[in-house]
Parts: sequence; C-alpha cells; structure tokens
Amino acid sequence: MKVIQADNYEDLGKIAGEMIFRQMEAKDDSVLGLATGETPVGIYQYLAEGYQDRNLSFSKVRTVNLDEYIGMDGSNEQSYRYFMNKHLFNKVDIRKEFTEVPNGKCEDVEQECLRYEKRIEEFGGIDIQILGMGENGHIGFNEPGNEFICDTHVVQLTEDTRKVNARFFDSADSVPEQAITMGIRTILKARKIILAVYGVKKAEALAGVLKDRVTPWLPASVLQFHPDVTVIADAGALSKC
Ligand code: GLP
Repeated sequence: MKVIQADNYEDLGKIAGEMIFRQMEAKDDSVLGLATGETPVGIYQYLAEGYQDRNLSFSKVRTVNLDEYIGMDGSNEQSYRYFMNKHLFNKVDIRKEFTEVPNGKCEDVEQECLRYEKRIEEFGGIDIQILGMGENGHIGFNEPGNEFICDTHVVQLTEDTRKVNARFFDSADSVPEQAITMGIRTILKARKIILAVYGVKKAEALAGVLKDRVTPWLPASVLQFHPDVTVIADAGALSKC
C-alpha cells in the first residue's frame, strides 16, 4: 500500500480530492465509490469548491455509497443519503439519478442488497473508492468478526460503533442497530482505493492495517490484498506505525 502523509485535515482533503479530479479528467463518466463520516467531508468540500475551476463536470459521473442505516432515508437528517446530498450532491452538477445509496427504508432488505450489487455492475464497476475507517478498523460497516462477508449485506452494528457514531444523534440509543453495507469483495473489486484516516484515535487500527497480518478482526487489513490502495493519513493517525 502506498502511504501519503497529509500535513493536516485540509491537506488530506486536497490530496484525495486531486486524485478524484485526475480520475474525472481521465474518464468523465467515472464511477466514484463514496464514504460518509467526518473524514471525507474535507474531500467533498475540495471537490465542490474546485471542480468548475478545473473545467470538470459531474454530469456524467455515477456514484455509489458504501452504506446506509436501516430504517432511514433521505428525509432523515442522520441518514447517509442526507449527508451526501448536503456535503456533495447538492453542491455539484451531478444527476441525482446517477447517485446510489442503499435504501435503508426498503421493504425487503435482502432484495435491496441484491439490487445494489447489480446496480454497481450496471455502472461498470467502481473506478475509485474512497474509504474512511472506524476506530475498530471497520470499512463501510464491515465490522470486526470471524469472517469477511463478501457482498452487500445487512449488518448488526457493534456497541463500539454505535457509541462512536452517537455523536451524530441525540443519544446512543437512537443510533440504529442495523445497516446495509457493501461487502468486502464489493469494496475490493474497485479498481483503485483511497483509505483516508485522520486523527490519533485511529493510530492503533492503522498500524495493524499497515503492519500486521490480514484478519477479519481488523476489516481494513484486507486492503493489503488490493493492488492499488493509497492510504492518506495525518501524523496522528500514523503515530503508531
Ligand atoms: C461510519 C461509516 C464508515 C466511516 C466511519 C468513520 O461508521 N460507516 O464508512 O469510515 O464512520 O467515520 P469518521 O471519518 O467520522 O471517523
């Protein structure tokens, strides 16, 4: 894995944003895999503020998001669809029908998981996937466990993740218990991957990802198997490497 140290949060957004711009320059109908969380907000800000100056357009770009809470849709402010609209889609010239986020309010979640995998295939696969990482090493919502789950699936969120994500909700109890997430194979099929990691809280997990053996107990470690991963991290996140 290639590792780039960012000077600070803003720099992380710039380095990752430039990689996305290069991808869009090479292919105007690129398929971007997107993530939520605080880490990628700076990347989306960089994209939204800079794309017009670069003479780029999102009008042919397609996007697929990693995950969504079950029971939520875009009308809910804590949903990942709402997050994406707010931080990126409403700020650029993208066509909403070209943006995919799993439907957390679907009637049949198993069907929704299948639909999602099919949709990614129809798009022609993901050209570049942005990933954040949970403090426990999760990517998307692939939580630590006995095994890697391949395809888009329903996941029971760990108590740790619900506690960490409580910052976006009124209380820990209001964090949904389940989510739909792309699977590990779905993520690894992306042609390029950016893993964006910010802050000392992620240092231990990142050290494991970069230096230890691959294990489903540290889901992001599986990225060692992918041929084109760029880790962009600040000094805090890299402090245990
Ligand atoms: C959530 C998302 C992940 C994200 C993680 C870290 O759990 N499902 O995709 O990587 O949060 O978020 P943050 O960047 O806020 O630390």
